[in-house]
Amino acid sequence: MRTELSMLAALLGVALAACEIGPRSGRGLRLPEGDVARGELAFRDLGCPQCHDVAGGAEFQQADRADYIVRLGGEVTHVETYGELVTSIIHPSHEISGRHPREKVADGERSRMRSFNEQMSVAQLVDLTAYLQSKYELRIEPVYIP
Ligand code: HEC
Repeated sequence: MRTELSMLAALLGVALAACEIGPRSGRGLRLPEGDVARGELAFRDLGCPQCHDVAGGAEFQQADRADYIVRLGGEVTHVETYGELVTSIIHPSHEISGRHPREKVADGERSRMRSFNEQMSVAQLVDLTAYLQSKYELRIEPVYIP
């Protein structure tokens, strides 16, 4: 009986962790449909090309380009959800991308990406997310069964 109870408790723990329920969970976030072409315009207008290239995207002309350019889009091994994209746009320091040499993209715990939250409209954010999402390609890793 005791083992059954502790198994149940363990299973419940796993189930709760998997659902990530709680007031700070991202569950329930749904963006309206964004527009890819307007997203590319917003990308240019807001000055994102100062630090970014986009795989398979247009060439951007930007005078004050950063020394280190972070490429967005291209092949990834997991789907870039819009939850992740929105977070990296409005809260860059939440999780620093691990695909680059740390000292090039962060200053301690802070991302070198500056905040756009005062100047970016919600419509721009939605369109930017649609634009960037369209530039990622999911690469399915082959699974080897020994
Ligand atoms: C001053 C330079 C700079 C500007 C301007 C900038 N970024 Fe960034 N961005 C970075 C750096 C550095 C990183 C990598 C570190 C990190 O994850 O925050 C990054 C990361 C990102 C990521 C996550 C990439 C990944 O591989 O996980 C996205 C998405 C992104 N930026 C979008 C944007 C958008 C959209 C704009 C314009 C509104 C913008 N950035 C403007 C420097 C910049």
